[in-house]
Amino acid sequence: MVNPSAPVKRRGLLLLVGVGVVSALAAAAAVALATNIFERKQEARNPFFRVAELTDDTVDPAIWGKNFPLQYDMYLRTVDQVRTKYGGSEAVPHAPTQADPRSVVAQSRLEEDPRLKTMWAGYAFSKDFREERGHAHMLADQTFTERQQVTKQPGTCLHCHASTYNVYKKLGDGDLMKGFDAVNHMTYFEARKLTEHPVACIDCHDSQTLQLRVTRPAFMQAMARMKAAQGVQDYNVNRDATRQEMRSYVCGQCHVEYYFKGPEKTLTYPWDKGLKIENILAYYDENPHKDWTHADTGAPVLKAQHPEFEMWNQGVHARSGVSCSDCHMPYTRVGAQKISDHHVRSPLLNINRACQTCHHFSEAELRARAEALQERTFRLRNQGLDALMGLVNDVKAAKAAGKTDQDLAGVYALQRRGQFMLDFIEAENSMGFHAPEEAARILGQATNLIRQAQILVRDSNFKPEIPDALPASAGDAHAGPGTGGKPVGSPAEGTGGTAH
Ligand code: HEC
Ligand code: HEC
Ligand code: HEC
Ligand code: HEC
Ligand code: HEC
Repeated sequence: MVNPSAPVKRRGLLLLVGVGVVSALAAAAAVALATNIFERKQEARNPFFRVAELTDDTVDPAIWGKNFPLQYDMYLRTVDQVRTKYGGSEAVPHAPTQADPRSVVAQSRLEEDPRLKTMWAGYAFSKDFREERGHAHMLADQTFTERQQVTKQPGTCLHCHASTYNVYKKLGDGDLMKGFDAVNHMTYFEARKLTEHPVACIDCHDSQTLQLRVTRPAFMQAMARMKAAQGVQDYNVNRDATRQEMRSYVCGQCHVEYYFKGPEKTLTYPWDKGLKIENILAYYDENPHKDWTHADTGAPVLKAQHPEFEMWNQGVHARSGVSCSDCHMPYTRVGAQKISDHHVRSPLLNINRACQTCHHFSEAELRARAEALQERTFRLRNQGLDALMGLVNDVKAAKAAGKTDQDLAGVYALQRRGQFMLDFIEAENSMGFHAPEEAARILGQATNLIRQAQILVRDSNFKPEIPDALPASAGDAHAGPGTGGKPVGSPAEGTGGTAH
């Protein structure tokens, strides 16, 4: 800035001239500044030059990147691999082969904790299960996982691992649901030929307005069924959700528990009764389904998958209107532009932007708080896994001594329920952070059920107590989309991270 004190020491005419020069300079500076601010405001409002014409058929993110280079650069950085205490991922070198040309993979969770192999005995997950990594890898990691060699997978898998919006649209002649059905009916490798990109701009954004939108049929259908059960007819997520809700729903399209329903292998999210684990278990009781038969015990069991959306929904952040994007895609300033960090990753690698906008504690303190919650979850998870190892051994011994599947039916029911609860928290990727109280509650119940199963193996007169589902009020306690109550996003424009 101009230094206003310098000319004031002069006298007479010189002083006046000096003052004149200063004012002129100041005025010029003010005009320049105003112009600059104006230009930048323009920039912020319309933050791109339309270099490329985008349509609803522009799949390639590099083309979108011509108009939005900042978001595109960040999006590309999801290749990065950095480990945190309980999350992130480690880049492990891999010798490329014909069957698996990847030169880097993430660490094996089975090698880290062999108890997982026993939990999943007889299922493809016991052959290959790795830590998840950034979005850039999703398509390759799915294509080359050894699980593909153990079981023939359906095209359904691609829903959450590729840019499929345009594939569905094309195969369905414009009808997304029809295209979705068509892909579900294909084999994985048939369908795989139709896609080449991991989740892309077009999967989350309208090409003209850049507004967020949901493009995944399984999510649209599951939300509509859940809302209908709560008395809201014809719920259409793209029409009826708030902007703040959309900042979580775009993620909830994939980061959820799912199964393949029926011979059509229709991708289904089991939310008809709500998002809490008891709601989900009640759904599976009514729609009998097993993912596989446990190889060591013979129990018909379920595999839980990455229920980030469901667990987040039970936590204090969701109740306070804090969305996935607030922590995983926090605003970042570039010049005068406030843009969303498209380098989606662990927020603990970015505490400054991900947490300190709301929490005014030091980075070390916030990390310590998060890790303390994770540590507690990890210990409870370990207790649950130890209990499960005990049960598996007991059942093996009982079978060797002549007990039949029929004798063990009650034990199997307890294993199925307890193991699913344990796996639900194991499969959830925040190690309890998204909803620490709920994670502890679920793990406590899981261990209880598994220990009761062990008693029942020894004493067939034992009467197990299955802690019944929900305390009376729990169904509506959470203000999330799981209930007809106030939507998660509603207080949001204020709390949810737009206020900075
Ligand atoms: C209040 C902040 C916050 C919100 C809101 C939030 N998360 Fe997280 N998330 C975290 C933290 C902290 C971790 C733990 C990261 C770690 O251990 O490195 C995490 C972990 C994860 C992971 C594993 C990341 C890794 O690097 O291993 C995924 C996936 C994830 N969250 C998805 C979601 C989704 C989807 C939503 C919304 C449904 C969501 N999160 C909402 C803070 C948040
Ligand atoms: C509902 C969405 C969804 C569907 C359907 C889905 N995935 Fe995933 N998948 C995810 C998410 C989210 C992650 C990252 C979180 C995690 O690994 O827990 C993931 C991670 C993975 C990984 C990397 C981690 C690991 O498990 O080794 C592989 C491999 C994978 N999926 C394969 C598959 C296969 C094969 C299918 C079909 C049988 C499939 N996925 C179907 C959402 C999905
Ligand atoms: C189309 C499905 C899909 C959508 C939409 C999606 N994810 Fe993912 N996400 C995945 C899959 C699959 C992986 C695992 C990829 C792998 O391991 O190769 C993953 C991985 C992650 C990770 C782990 C990153 C790391 O470095 O370890 C985080 C965090 C994450 N997603 C958060 C989010 C958030 C937040 C959103 C919403 C803004 C979101 N995801 C939207 C499918 C999706
Ligand atoms: C997994 C979903 C997802 C994907 C994929 C994605 N975005 Fe976004 N994007 C978001 C979210 C969430 C926001 C915040 C929107 C809001 O708050 O209304 C956003 C915001 C934006 C904005 C508005 C300005 C800003 O940064 O907040 C632009 C421009 C944008 N994205 C461009 C892109 C481009 C280009 C790509 C592809 C390279 C892309 N996005 C891929 C989720 C996504
Ligand atoms: C958009 C605002 C916002 C962001 C971003 C945010 N938080 Fe929070 N956080 C809250 C609110 C609101 C609460 C509820 C308690 C309160 O009102 O103080 C909360 C509660 C917590 C709690 C107490 C949890 C519990 O179960 O009692 C912890 C720990 C926490 N946050 C850590 C973090 C960390 C770590 C991050 C970054 C990964 C983060 N928060 C990001 C707003 C936020």
